[in-house]
Amino acid sequence: MSPISGAAAPETHGSRSTGAVSDPVAEPPAAADVTAERVVVLDYGGQYSQLIARRVRECGVFSELLPHHVGAAEVARRRPRGVILSGGPASVYAEGAPPLQRELLELGVPVLGICYGMQLLALALGGRVEGAETGEFGRSELAVSRPGRLLAGTPAQQACWMSHRDTVYEPPPGFDALASSTASPVAAFESTDRDIYGIQFHPEVVHTPYGQRVLSNFLTDICGCEGGWSAASVIEQQIELIRAQVGDGRAICGLSGGVDSSVAALLVHRAIGDRLTCVFVDHGLMRKNEGDQVVAAFRDHFRVPLIAVDASDRFLAALRGVTDPERKRKVIGAEFIRVFEEQAARLDDVRFLVQGTLYSDVIESGGGTGTATIKSHHNVGGLPEDLDFELVEPLRALFKDEVREVGAQLGLPERLVWRQPFPGPGLAIRIVGGEATRERLDLLREADAILQEEIRAAGLYRELWQSFCVLPDIRTVGVQGDERTYGSVIAIRAVTSDDAMTADWARLPYDLLERIASRMIGEIRAVGRVVLDITSKPPGTIEWE
Ligand code: XMP
Repeated sequence: MSPISGAAAPETHGSRSTGAVSDPVAEPPAAADVTAERVVVLDYGGQYSQLIARRVRECGVFSELLPHHVGAAEVARRRPRGVILSGGPASVYAEGAPPLQRELLELGVPVLGICYGMQLLALALGGRVEGAETGEFGRSELAVSRPGRLLAGTPAQQACWMSHRDTVYEPPPGFDALASSTASPVAAFESTDRDIYGIQFHPEVVHTPYGQRVLSNFLTDICGCEGGWSAASVIEQQIELIRAQVGDGRAICGLSGGVDSSVAALLVHRAIGDRLTCVFVDHGLMRKNEGDQVVAAFRDHFRVPLIAVDASDRFLAALRGVTDPERKRKVIGAEFIRVFEEQAARLDDVRFLVQGTLYSDVIESGGGTGTATIKSHHNVGGLPEDLDFELVEPLRALFKDEVREVGAQLGLPERLVWRQPFPGPGLAIRIVGGEATRERLDLLREADAILQEEIRAAGLYRELWQSFCVLPDIRTVGVQGDERTYGSVIAIRAVTSDDAMTADWARLPYDLLERIASRMIGEIRAVGRVVLDITSKPPGTIEWE
């Protein structure tokens, strides 16, 4: 565990709420069309389902996460080399519990059930599954009695991560029990004749040290995958797909400075060259030098046609007198759309809009037809659905870390590849309880720059999910020299997280905090006090408003 992580949730645990199941994905994501070797992960609502899909990809095999209720025919259409059934929050005996579609077992490819997926298999094939009083949660010891094919190459005693109440007491007839744990008499089973495998523990979390080996056994030895897939390896294929979609048309892309829109723009530029125009709207709510970095990278370095609009006066005027956070978001969002539309209207013949939609957006929004799912969450830059563009979404098949890999491969500067998430409404929602005036924005920007500089110098930038400053609309008393002061308060917020669903406050070293605080007070006249936010999420949120 990182020294700056708190003692709370382990790295991969508890970040996603349980119970939510992804909605149907009607079409395979774009990269899948050109990827021969793939595995389907069926999502039974487990909190780790996305992580399973990512771990499969880390083994070099393209994976797709589909909701459990898509038909077996839908799965077969993708011609997977194997199928993985995920965990899930239900008991197999609960009313309305997601059932196993027996046809999945007739597809002629190996099936691996994990946790709930294993219990479904056990129940359907005549094993004995019962609800246990206490369940088994967290770290457990696995005793391997016979490794079989699934656990080959792993030790007889090993740690694993468990999270279940229902327990398999007997494997189905004809199956070999491979391992047990303290509370699970059958923690793994297999039938090589039927090509069906099950594990009670979670191989996808870091707390199962041989988990990746088990997945790799399944993918390589059992499914026969060769494993040459990587995010970077699909760059050329994506470029071909973009060319096929856009033909000799023209495209526009709103750049925010974030990694998603940056990588999407670069891919499309590789594909169609100067028929792509990027629009970067500087709303005056960015961090120090951020706008310059975007312009330097895209216009000067990559030579992408770029319209950089300095719209800060407009945004500040629109924000005058606005103190309510939701109102701020709405004002900024509406203004953004206006500026973007004005710029788009000046360009002739633009039919395509490039969006940095990620695979997790596709899974979570339940969209998937590839037509009109404009990223509609609270992001500024979220454009209205009635815009008359066809979407180009070259990152639809990729997870965030894979997008970073592609970005690095395309030569995107390290600063943009690894940029921490930054909210669309920018610094405006970090001026809490008050209006976002130019003076306050400047103050906050300076404080933020000091924080970022020190965090980077301490080598902690990448370990933190986000680190930023908040400026509450209050003043506090102080004394500097012989004078009484009445200065602003800067709050430091730094969190670790996997996906922003939960977060823990980062344990920044005291000497670093001291340096940051004294620099802020020494270098920025208006700052009179520096405080540290030690609230996790939940119960707090990452941003203050
Ligand atoms: P909270 O504060 O809800 O934030 O814990 C979760 C993540 O979302 C980001 N965030 C926003 N992003 N527009 C955005 O584009 C917004 O209005 C907004 N509000 C919060 C936040 O920075 C964190 O990464």
